[in-house]
Amino acid sequence: MTQQTMQGKTLFISGGTRGIGKAIVYEFASKGCDVAFTYASSADVANEIIADIESKFGVKSRAYKLNILEPETYKDVYKLFDEDFEKLDFFISNAIISGRAVVGGFAPFMRLKPKGLGNIYTATVEAFVVGAQEAVKRMEKAGGGSIISMSSTGNLVYTPNYAGHGTNKAAVETMVRYAAAELGEKNIRVNAVSGGPIDTDALKAFPNYEEVKAEVVRRSPLSRMGEATDLSGACSFLCSDAASWLTGQTIVIDGGTTFQ
Ligand SMILES: NC(=O)c1ccc[n+]([C@@H]2O[C@H](COP(=O)([O-])OP(=O)(O)OC[C@H]3O[C@@H](n4cnc5c(N)ncnc54)[C@H](OP(=O)(O)O)[C@@H]3O)[C@@H](O)[C@H]2O)c1
Repeated sequence: MTQQTMQGKTLFISGGTRGIGKAIVYEFASKGCDVAFTYASSADVANEIIADIESKFGVKSRAYKLNILEPETYKDVYKLFDEDFEKLDFFISNAIISGRAVVGGFAPFMRLKPKGLGNIYTATVEAFVVGAQEAVKRMEKAGGGSIISMSSTGNLVYTPNYAGHGTNKAAVETMVRYAAAELGEKNIRVNAVSGGPIDTDALKAFPNYEEVKAEVVRRSPLSRMGEATDLSGACSFLCSDAASWLTGQTIVIDGGTTFQ
């Protein structure tokens, strides 16, 4: 994994307050990258993270409130970003909805409902599209950049109740390939990082969390569940020069679980 410095670079990531997003914020900041991130409700946590990474790593960090169920509002958030940062190099679409917003989307097949499925599509695919479009406008000025969508192996492996998320992760991986095909001429690379089950709040919210965890440990040749930090190295690699000819791909990080 590359250890090159990211000093002078800026990352914008959605959902930086918890789980995988928070691990990515720390990974990039530890390499000297300035970090802008969004939160939905955890304003206090966001402020704590800003204070912590600014003092630990000497980077600049700011956080903005965003609701990915209203993707067009990304445009307002980017205007705030422009007041704080001069340029953008990396964008990661990471935030995900849970709780009431996914009722009818996070369910067995016979209980799926259009509203819940639609919410997951909005939060996963539409939010990626608008967030990335706004990122591209800024990256063009910087001469290029790297865009990543977080995905999950729930579109490759049957996971109970996960039909809505799994379907939309497959969709966003396809959207990533289309974006990559059209943005290469701007020197912008677009990829997805797909994780197997990772021990985060999102997964702990699964009603069968303990069962999922035991099954993952059983399936993985590495005999453990994924941690949030297991995905952040691939993100920093994809934003480094070491990945300069890597675009339109999905990197699967699953502890070997998908093949078992
Ligand atoms: N957990 C897994 O097993 C796993 C595996 C592979 C891939 N992934 C993917 O990795 C990404 C992050 O997952 P995670 O498990 O780290 O999630 P998480 O722990 O639930 O964190 C979700 C993040 O999204 C924000 N968020 C929640 N609702 C939002 C909304 N309506 N609008 C905008 N932001 C919102 C949260 O902000 P607040 O703190 O302010 O609420 C938080 O920062 C997702 O794309 C997920 O599909 C997860």
